Amino acid sequence: MTTSARLRAALVGLLTEDGTLHDPAWRGAAEAVPREVFVGSYFVEVPGSVPTRYRPVRRDADGWLEGIHTDRTLITQLDGRIRADDVEDDKPVVGSATSSSTLPSLVLRMWQQLGVEDGQRVLEVGTGTGYSAALGAHRLGEDRITSVEYDPVVGRAAAAALKEAGYAPRLIIGDGLRGDPDGGAYDRLIATCSVRHLPLAWLHQVRPGGRILVTLSGWSYASGSALLTVTGPGTATGRLLPGYTSFMIARPHDRPPRPALALLPGEERPSRIDPAVIGTWTGGWVAQLAAPQAERMGAGPEQILWDVSTGSQARTAPGPGGGWTVVQRGPVRLWDRVEAAIRLWQAAGEPHQEGFGITVSAARQRVWIGDEDGPGWELPV
Ligand SMILES: C[S@@+](CC[C@H](N)C(=O)[O-])C[C@H]1O[C@@H](n2cnc3c(N)ncnc32)[C@H](O)[C@@H]1O
Repeated sequence: MTTSARLRAALVGLLTEDGTLHDPAWRGAAEAVPREVFVGSYFVEVPGSVPTRYRPVRRDADGWLEGIHTDRTLITQLDGRIRADDVEDDKPVVGSATSSSTLPSLVLRMWQQLGVEDGQRVLEVGTGTGYSAALGAHRLGEDRITSVEYDPVVGRAAAAALKEAGYAPRLIIGDGLRGDPDGGAYDRLIATCSVRHLPLAWLHQVRPGGRILVTLSGWSYASGSALLTVTGPGTATGRLLPGYTSFMIARPHDRPPRPALALLPGEERPSRIDPAVIGTWTGGWVAQLAAPQAERMGAGPEQILWDVSTGSQARTAPGPGGGWTVVQRGPVRLWDRVEAAIRLWQAAGEPHQEGFGITVSAARQRVWIGDEDGPGWELPV
């Protein structure tokens, strides 16, 4: 047995033991696909660096293969242009992750959640390294998988890796938010980049009864994964899933560039909620639903919301005599919206994302708590 096969078998063993990998067909795929062919060189975070710096781990460096066989996301590209494979020295670099090989437990969990059956056709959005497309091709057959990648350099590297590993799914370089330029019909769609709302193309390219697995995110960096069933052309409904999944946002959905933050005066009042709640996993999700144009900054009781499109700001602080204050300015009263949403969520018992659902039509996309008639918010479309 090669070192790679031994390390792969060990990781598959761990993921089977902890219950992540429960479907034998997907276990077979995980045992067969060599992740190192897809990842190549990768970046690891320099602990404690601010702004975050990344150290390249070059192909065949000490610990490279072992690193690939851990259950970690491995960043392969920064700022849409710096590929770990192209870095020539070991000096750490500053940047934001724009492509990666998602951690194997998440890739495999998502494939299992998608509930594919033999013979079904799947559209993957976000080819990245090609590793998850290879797993899909192994499980379903390469003629059943189409994968779309936005970045041509990343897409070409994935094509080469897939060829080297012996898989030939259909690959498209383009904007996966537009789906397959040749149209559907797909039985399943899986997105490994996140979106602010569901692209309507997806809802027409997945046949009624088919499923879409996607992570919803936004400009305040909160996330929730949803599994939707397409109910008719252009309509779908589903629930959010347990867990704490996040993905880099689809490039066309990323927030616009903004200048450096300048805090400006505004109207002050007491806050009716503890602002720190919007720094929690689900509190932040609710805040983002309520104020989708805003970016969240800050920490603990000192939160800042900033909507660059309207110049609206809200910032909170501990009050002088206890409690908290908020200063708001601009045409959108961001804190009024967030506060009202958090209070609705608190009144519903503060469910995790899995207590939410989503209903989508051509007219609107609504995320709700509990059931379709529960409190909810429209996604920005
Ligand atoms: C987390 S990575 C994908 C991981 C991949 N499935 C794997 O196994 O390696 C996300 C990828 O989505 C791509 N992406 C971002 N926006 C996209 C879009 N609109 N259409 C297609 N791909 C997109 C990014 O370039 C990046 O390569």
